Amino acid sequence: MEFASKNEYMSRISRVIISADEIRQRLPVAGKFIDDLYDGHPILLVSILKGSFVFLSDIARCVTVPCEIEFMEAKSYYEGTKSSGVVNITMDLKCDISNFHVVMIEDIIDTGRTLANVIKLLKTRKPLSFNVITLLDKPERRVVPISADLSLFTIPDLFVVGYGLDYGGYYRNLPYIAEYSE
Ligand code: IMP
Ligand code: MG
Repeated sequence: MEFASKNEYMSRISRVIISADEIRQRLPVAGKFIDDLYDGHPILLVSILKGSFVFLSDIARCVTVPCEIEFMEAKSYYEGTKSSGVVNITMDLKCDISNFHVVMIEDIIDTGRTLANVIKLLKTRKPLSFNVITLLDKPERRVVPISADLSLFTIPDLFVVGYGLDYGGYYRNLPYIAEYSE
C-alpha cells in the first residue's frame, strides 16, 4: 500500500467513532475488573498482538495489583475488510500459565473466531481462572457464539482503525477509533 500524500492517507479516515477522551474515561473500568480478580495469586495479562498493544499498555497502567504481561500473536486473515475465517497462532506464550489468573486482552471481537481459537488453546493449560477483556465488540458480525467478560464499547458493523487496529498494517497509531473507508 502506498500513499501519494499525508492528505491521501488521512482521507480514508471518514469519521471518529470513539474519541481518545472517551477511551480514557472507560479504561478504569477495565483496571477495576482486573484488580477485583486478585486473591493473592498473580494475574497474567495476555495481549493478543498486534491489535491489542495500545489497549494493553493503557490497561496495564490502570492495574494496581501484582501482574505480569505476556504476548501472543494470532492472525486472522483478512481479504480487504472482511475476515477470511482462517485463524493462525503465529506466536505462542513462553510461560506456564497454570499458576495464574489469566486475563486475555483483545482489541475487537468480530466473527469471534480468533477468540474461540485462543480460548480453546489456553484453557487446555489450566489457568487458575480465565477472563477476556475486549476494547470493542461488533456483535452483529458474530459467527461463533462467544462474548468477552468485559467489553468497553459495542460498535455497529463498520471497519474501524486506530488505537491499535489497522488496515493493511496502517493507522494503528491513531489515538482514537475511526471508521475506515476507501
Ligand atoms: P474475529 O476472529 O473475526 O473475531 O476477528 C478478530 C480480529 O480481526 C481482530 O483481533 C482484528 O485484528 C481483526 N478485525 C476485526 N474487525 C476489525 C476492524 O473493524 N478493524 C480492524 N481489524 C479488525
Ligand atoms: Mg486482534
